[in-house]
Amino acid sequence: MRLEALKSDPQAFSDHFDVVKGMSDEDWCVNMKRQSQNGSSLIFAEENGVLVGMSGGRQYQFPDFSHNYSLQSLFVSPHQRRRGFGKRLLRAHIEFALKKNPGIANFLCEIYSSQVESINLHIDFGFIVVGRIVEFRKAKSQKSDLIYMQLRSKTLKL
Ligand SMILES: CC(C)(COP(=O)(O)OP(=O)(O)OC[C@H]1O[C@@H](n2cnc3c(N)ncnc32)[C@H](O)[C@@H]1OP(=O)(O)O)[C@@H](O)C(=O)NCCC(=O)NCCS
Repeated sequence: MRLEALKSDPQAFSDHFDVVKGMSDEDWCVNMKRQSQNGSSLIFAEENGVLVGMSGGRQYQFPDFSHNYSLQSLFVSPHQRRRGFGKRLLRAHIEFALKKNPGIANFLCEIYSSQVESINLHIDFGFIVVGRIVEFRKAKSQKSDLIYMQLRSKTLKL
């Protein structure tokens, strides 16, 4: 699913398809194990046994920051978009994180300005833009800003 995401929407992510395409299943398992030891989680959406989307996230580890949760890697397969999977993945991930740790006060994400659909989705959900790095990415002729978004748990209406 991650390979599909990097191939179909390279401008949305900071990894490169060419860098990860050579990874074996074993490499992915080792990677996922390491990530989960660092507090990361992945949630998948499937329909009729076929994966259609994913959402990643990580609770900050050090005690002073552990009330923050970073959402990453949200992706829905191109042919399955505009069917509500993105919204449901985001909601499921937030519910999962709060169930695991009801003390989470902030959900954070970083989105490239080119990803208007993702920005809209997060705004619909109650996220607000709290910062921006101008021209963070320069890929060939395309420049995009990096936008920081935040959702305070106390404002959440799930
Ligand atoms: C962002 C993404 C996950 C949305 O998935 P989705 O399943 O299509 O989203 P939903 O159907 O749940 O739509 C939820 C809301 O997102 C916004 N949205 C989705 N697609 C949009 C589009 N093409 N244009 C504008 N807004 C859009 C809308 O606000 C929409 O609500 P609405 O249907 O009531 O108008 C998907 O477009 C995607 O994978 N994009 C490429 C990868 C990416 O940008 N990931 C984010 C990295 S942070």
